[in-house]
Amino acid sequence: MPKEEKVIIFDTTLRDGEQTPGANLNTREKLEIARALALLGVDVIEAGFPFTSPGDFEAVRTVGQEVKGVTICALARSLSQDIDCAAEALEGIEDARIHVFIGTSPIHRKHQLRKSKSQVLKMARDGVKRARGFTSNVQFSPMDATRTEGPFLIEVLEAAIEAGATTLNIPDTVGYAMPESFRELITRLREEVEGIEKTVISVHCHNDLGLAVANSLAAIKAGAGQVECTINGLGERAGNASLEEIVMALATRKDFFNKITRIRTQRLYPTSRLVSALTGILVQRNKAVVGENAFAHESGIHQDGVLKEPTTFEIMKPEDVGLVKSKLVLGKLSGRHAFIARVKELGYELDEEALEHAFNQFKALADKKKDIYDEDIAAIVEEELVEVPEVFAIESFHTTSGTGTIPTATVRMRIADGSVVQDAACGDGPVDAIYKTIDRITGFKGDLADYHIRAITGGKDAMGEVTLEVRHQGKIVHGRATSTDIIDASAKAYLAAINRIEAAKERAKSR
Ligand code: KIV
Ligand code: ZN
Repeated sequence: MPKEEKVIIFDTTLRDGEQTPGANLNTREKLEIARALALLGVDVIEAGFPFTSPGDFEAVRTVGQEVKGVTICALARSLSQDIDCAAEALEGIEDARIHVFIGTSPIHRKHQLRKSKSQVLKMARDGVKRARGFTSNVQFSPMDATRTEGPFLIEVLEAAIEAGATTLNIPDTVGYAMPESFRELITRLREEVEGIEKTVISVHCHNDLGLAVANSLAAIKAGAGQVECTINGLGERAGNASLEEIVMALATRKDFFNKITRIRTQRLYPTSRLVSALTGILVQRNKAVVGENAFAHESGIHQDGVLKEPTTFEIMKPEDVGLVKSKLVLGKLSGRHAFIARVKELGYELDEEALEHAFNQFKALADKKKDIYDEDIAAIVEEELVEVPEVFAIESFHTTSGTGTIPTATVRMRIADGSVVQDAACGDGPVDAIYKTIDRITGFKGDLADYHIRAITGGKDAMGEVTLEVRHQGKIVHGRATSTDIIDASAKAYLAAINRIEAAKERAKSR
């Protein structure tokens, strides 16, 4: 077998992934994810689209300044103002890339850009040239490439190469490609685009037909040297190709692909968890590689086989993706050192203040719960990493419910201006009653669009994790909280979403 080649892993969780409805992240949360991605071993982090918002600009800048050992990429349309803004956000960052894109398909040219082929061609060439004025690392994407006429796609790619693009990314923007046709497309481009051998061919596949990973792997088989992907497959609509699935397919079927990546696969599960906690987007139970059921065996025959020899029904080892059996680590008598050491072993980085707060939370939990597992510690730490401004905070609450009684809640809340307000309301149940009371106090008008509750570990004293989405003025905003009391977790998760909305309003006012 010839020597294996490396596939560059380009992670776009912080850019395309953040375009998932409800997955709004602030700069600090993006930084935590970027740190985790660097630890995971991705080669490139697309940290944002600076021209679209001050938040994206700041995120690219902060991630670039704080996260080392990885290329930091910023996205820009093929327009001067976008490219200059991306370059400004990346200024001073040693290992930086500008990613320039323009729609090339007939549909995009006609309806979105209202431009002719020659205008699009010129914009692509000018955009790449302008980006090259700032950095020698320029990636170009003809958006909706898979619905672009073959000869025009080739023409645009040749223009981009001539203008100095070093990576050519072929996006299947609407998830339209089939693995066989995508493989043929990459093969054709490798054969027909002049100068393509001087560049890295990349692919960016969306999952509208559930084929994003299959298409990405087909492209790798055809010689693509880079894949764009996201943790948990987050992204626009049905999402992007899932990083963990691509990486584990390459690792598990090395006999077929003969490719390697730099990914430390044992960091896949912790990174997936972190991204889920910070974005508020839950991972489906049966998701490949990182879903809760990915290594669960239900049928007797399977269980019997796995007990005798795991490879009978497992093609990957749970520990290879970082899914280690939860250890009973700490209890009431465990000290600060033991707690901090375990937090570090789990791969989290917290500053002094956050560590202190997390330790106090751990102590409070240990008073209520006898055994504390890794999952409990992860939940405590992840709460520290989520940064929700406290416009409203619950001081205390009381609920009554039961058969033959009207569920009622009384809530006392502190508001950012220092005032304390209390109110009460009835509802269909204690959670509904507390939400109605919070609405009365905060004046929030919106809908609860989604609500999930799960136990973090086994046992009747387990912590409950509530993840929810509220819809406000057409936007979805998430909230998440954990507590040994599920009414407390429900109230805090709801308030987290309201606080995010309030913070966004404040930011909009100050602009
Ligand atoms: O889906 C897409 O085409 C994109 C481009 C910006 C690469 O996200
Ligand atoms: Zn995309």
